[in-house]
Amino acid sequence: MSATSSPKRLTPPRIRAMKGGTPIVCLTAYTTPMARLLDEHCDLLLVGDSLGMVLYGMESTVAVTLDMMIAHGKAVMRGVARSCVVVDMPFGSYQESKELAYRNAVRILQETGCDAVKLEGGEEMAETIAFLTARGIPVLGHIGLMPQQVHTAGGYRSVGHSDEEVTKIRRDADAVGNSGAFAVVIEGTVETLAREVTMAIPVPTIGIGASVACDGQILVSDDMLGLFNDFTPRFVKRYDELGKKVATSAEAYAGDVRSRVFPADEHTFKRRS
Ligand code: KIV
Repeated sequence: MSATSSPKRLTPPRIRAMKGGTPIVCLTAYTTPMARLLDEHCDLLLVGDSLGMVLYGMESTVAVTLDMMIAHGKAVMRGVARSCVVVDMPFGSYQESKELAYRNAVRILQETGCDAVKLEGGEEMAETIAFLTARGIPVLGHIGLMPQQVHTAGGYRSVGHSDEEVTKIRRDADAVGNSGAFAVVIEGTVETLAREVTMAIPVPTIGIGASVACDGQILVSDDMLGLFNDFTPRFVKRYDELGKKVATSAEAYAGDVRSRVFPADEHTFKRRS
């Protein structure tokens, strides 16, 4: 049986049912080998549009396309046997109308075989989420700091510090949490508000920079592994320094090649007698 047809895969309703229980473990994955490594430890793998910055060196997620998300979604699906897989809808693929969102979400589900899509937005996206979920498309919401809105927000900064921001996040959480989404990512939001919202809405909150109060946590895998060194947000815990290990290994390989230590006899084919 192929990994993608495994009956053991967690579904969006099962993630939804984890509200208030053991915290939901989520990480990003963009490739088959990484999905294979992370899968057994996670409940949910997100093919995040953060791949634009992490894999492609883009300055933001704004230029990520639907075709890029579908290609990486397919790659991740080849590596999973357990986790629920969610693919991000990229900027411009869903905001214009609920009909456009539906068509593009269908493409993502049909072409990748993933379990659900994620889209950013608060009150203004609740109707779209209701439209999609009523038509068979599971949706993971995303409120708080919304990276696709970097240009209108004027940068990436945590939210929930002013009264206006608190009111907006409360309203966004209420709208998205009751729109049919099976869970909601809350990004870059102060602890008191994340706690309040988590208690108020009927579906799990998945925090990234939103404190331990959330029902689950997500990090960009490359951040927590020390593979993406351009910028490390305050909320990231580094579990390794793989970037440094890659550089050290490349240096050792270069030395071995230049001094003819590599390839050695054991790496060399000899004519069979
Ligand atoms: O794109 C992404 O990786 C995300 C997570 C940071 C939640 O949206």
